[in-house]
Amino acid sequence: MDKQELISALIYDVALEHSAIIQYLYHIFLIPDPEIVSEIEEIARQEMRHLKWFGQKIVQLGGRVNLDRAEDMISIGNSVAEMLQNNVFAERKAIEVYSSHLELAKDDSVKRLLERVINDEKEHAEEFEKMLSSAKENPPQMEGSPAADESTIKILNEFLKEEYQLIINYLYQFFHAKNWEYRDIVMDLAIESMVHMGKIGEAIGEMGQMPDLSRIDFSEQKSSSLAEQVKKDLSMETLSKDRYSKELLQNHQESVRKILDFINKQEDYHRHRLMEFFKRMHRFTIGELNDG
Ligand SMILES: [Fe+2]
Ligand SMILES: [Fe+2]
Ligand SMILES: [Fe+2]
Ligand SMILES: [Fe+2]
Repeated sequence: MDKQELISALIYDVALEHSAIIQYLYHIFLIPDPEIVSEIEEIARQEMRHLKWFGQKIVQLGGRVNLDRAEDMISIGNSVAEMLQNNVFAERKAIEVYSSHLELAKDDSVKRLLERVINDEKEHAEEFEKMLSSAKENPPQMEGSPAADESTIKILNEFLKEEYQLIINYLYQFFHAKNWEYRDIVMDLAIESMVHMGKIGEAIGEMGQMPDLSRIDFSEQKSSSLAEQVKKDLSMETLSKDRYSKELLQNHQESVRKILDFINKQEDYHRHRLMEFFKRMHRFTIGELNDG
């Protein structure tokens, strides 16, 4: 495998991790059993680290990270047992793909990474098999569908997709930006957007409804300068904050209001954080010009 082929293989590995994360998120949102959910959450967090490591390796090799997903690899399932069975398949598929990449890779550091990840996936496959056999013995019930207000679900799903889009944007910036302070900020914002996504998705699942984690636009978000990118981020955060504020004025049930209120306050801080960085960056640039 030459360097370009290796980069392409790693881009596919990122997509595979992304797909696994989405599949597990559906399950986290839909399965009512807290024990199963916390086990899947732990595995999903590990897949996020895998995605990050594969992405960083692509950048080190001089490639560009593509944050698309392998759509055909995502299967949700209808019962808890079916979901867990799909997860066993997903882990086995990942082991197969990474093993084939390991065989072809010549780069030592990539090989070490693949070996490490394959070892994790083997552990995951075993964990899912164990969960599956106990779910078969003692089938957990899926949540019934309490009467949910359709317009509330629609709004929550819109927020869910917006947070998803923001996460993809921030992760992309994290991989490719050069400024360390900005990279630190976008990683924080990505993680907090994941928390928002989690709260909203759980709320939808608790209402017995289907969270919408369908594919979004993954086209590359290249900006001509860091200042321009920060401006874009700021306008997205402002839009997001305004939408949460607007919904808080509506007549939502208490549990939904609480979530919206919590997120709304964090969005305010996100905007503030970017604004502060933008001002500092601007001052720095002007200072530099004056020195000359
Ligand atoms: Fe993984
Ligand atoms: Fe895994
Ligand atoms: Fe958010
Ligand atoms: Fe935000």
